[in-house]
Amino acid sequence: MIEHDQIIVVLDFGAQYSQLIARRVRETHVYSQILPYNTPVVKIMELEPSGIIFSGGPASVRDEGSPRPDPEIFNLGIPILGICYGLQVMSLVLGGDVQRPERREYGFAALTKNEDTPLFSGIDSGSQLWMSHGDSVSALPEGFTCTASTQNCEFTGIENSSKRMFGVQFHPEVVHTTDGTLLISNFVHKICGCTASWSMESFVDTAIAEIREHVGDRTVLCGLSGGVDSSVVAALLHKAIGDQLVCVFVNNGLLRKGEADLVIQLFRDNFHIRLQYADAEERFLSKLEGISEPEAKRKIIGKEFIEVFEHEARAIGRVDFLAQGTLYPDVIESVSATGGPSATIKSHHNVGGLPEDLRFELIEPLRELFKDEVRELGKELGLPDEVVYRHPFPGPGLGIRCIGEITKDRLDTLRDVDEIFIEEIRKAGLYGEIWQALACLLPVKSVGVQGDERTYEEVCSLRAVTSEDAMTADWFRFPPEVLQTASNRICNEVARVNRVLYDITSKPPGTVEWE
Ligand code: XMP
Repeated sequence: MIEHDQIIVVLDFGAQYSQLIARRVRETHVYSQILPYNTPVVKIMELEPSGIIFSGGPASVRDEGSPRPDPEIFNLGIPILGICYGLQVMSLVLGGDVQRPERREYGFAALTKNEDTPLFSGIDSGSQLWMSHGDSVSALPEGFTCTASTQNCEFTGIENSSKRMFGVQFHPEVVHTTDGTLLISNFVHKICGCTASWSMESFVDTAIAEIREHVGDRTVLCGLSGGVDSSVVAALLHKAIGDQLVCVFVNNGLLRKGEADLVIQLFRDNFHIRLQYADAEERFLSKLEGISEPEAKRKIIGKEFIEVFEHEARAIGRVDFLAQGTLYPDVIESVSATGGPSATIKSHHNVGGLPEDLRFELIEPLRELFKDEVRELGKELGLPDEVVYRHPFPGPGLGIRCIGEITKDRLDTLRDVDEIFIEEIRKAGLYGEIWQALACLLPVKSVGVQGDERTYEEVCSLRAVTSEDAMTADWFRFPPEVLQTASNRICNEVARVNRVLYDITSKPPGTVEWE
């Protein structure tokens, strides 16, 4: 665990927005950590937080058994900011009252400030707020004053300035609250007295020092996939321990066009990282011969990957650690309705199936970071934008996009289609707007006419989706000319394809990948 000078603790009462609160705090350059709402005060105090934020939550404080913090938290003298449910729970526990008005309030509201306070510093009456609540505070606890209201909600902002306790009924963490980030910054800096000391630059320095101390003169193994997370892990570890890091990159024959060369060129030739390259294309393709059932494909690819990785790991000699690109959302002990750690962890790359004598100690240098922070770190470490902003790519690769039987010929065809599609997206300047773009080769052939000749060739399908986290996704609305150019180029330049489809299925009901 990396030591931070200043920490703001976010207590999670089950809100879908808890992670957003933590990110907003970090955007003000102060480190934040999310803990479950019922974390005992002794545990919170181990972190020596400069301030505590209570998140919102779906429960009603008036219900029996609704989430409550350790009551000692109100005696610590550490500033507390309650948001929505957080405000209500603070009010109720401290002797105020909470009622359910006839109508719940959902949507925009305008702020009316009652007095000038540090929390609302720089925020004027009329500022747009985002409300989403059923219950409202109906009586203030002793010592509290009402600092802000809206037309429908009297106690929109409350505080007890001598005890440094604050509450807001609206959601400062969402973008719809225009001055939300300013309010969080006011709390963090003006009230908690934090200085802006958390930055990627400082993270790199501390992380490197921690890795060096932890690893000593031992060896770390890192599986490189070419994706953002493993690339950033490798670059960071390399900066910390140089040649004590060995990377293994397995070419399973199911990679995108030019992918293997790019990874080798970047990490071996440019970063001078010790890179063990396993060209296992033939091995994977021979095991996949004749297999078209999706789960069977995935199992074979996963099993072969473990075997090849194991073989490479043994060849390195003594290895003490296995590096993994675990991110913060995977480790938060979340109580939110969007799911705990198990809902988000992807299994393919955590090499969980290694034999017992090859189970290393794990090292997870990104476990405190959100995805956008990982990208920022990647840039800080000198990784090219092409890697840092890369779309996700599944472990089984083109194996689950070559629908039906997998052959080298079909994979090569798919690689050409995929390359053209991605090229056209980049040319149109749309790559960054899309979560993930992919091409599939379908297990049907179609009749066409090219020149004067009748053709009977492969059909491909293009898919591009927007998403926040891949749990849900929507199909991307391309300007028609982008699809037109991609389709023309694919039919002209890829000999084996004579028909192009565009997939307009959202998730759910479709998944992002076809298999
Ligand atoms: P689905 O198809 O389930 O995909 O909507 C959601 C996200 O996960 C990626 N994906 C995988 N990633 N190993 C991975 O590392 C896998 O086996 C795998 N299957 C799907 C997919 O590309 C999308 O981003």
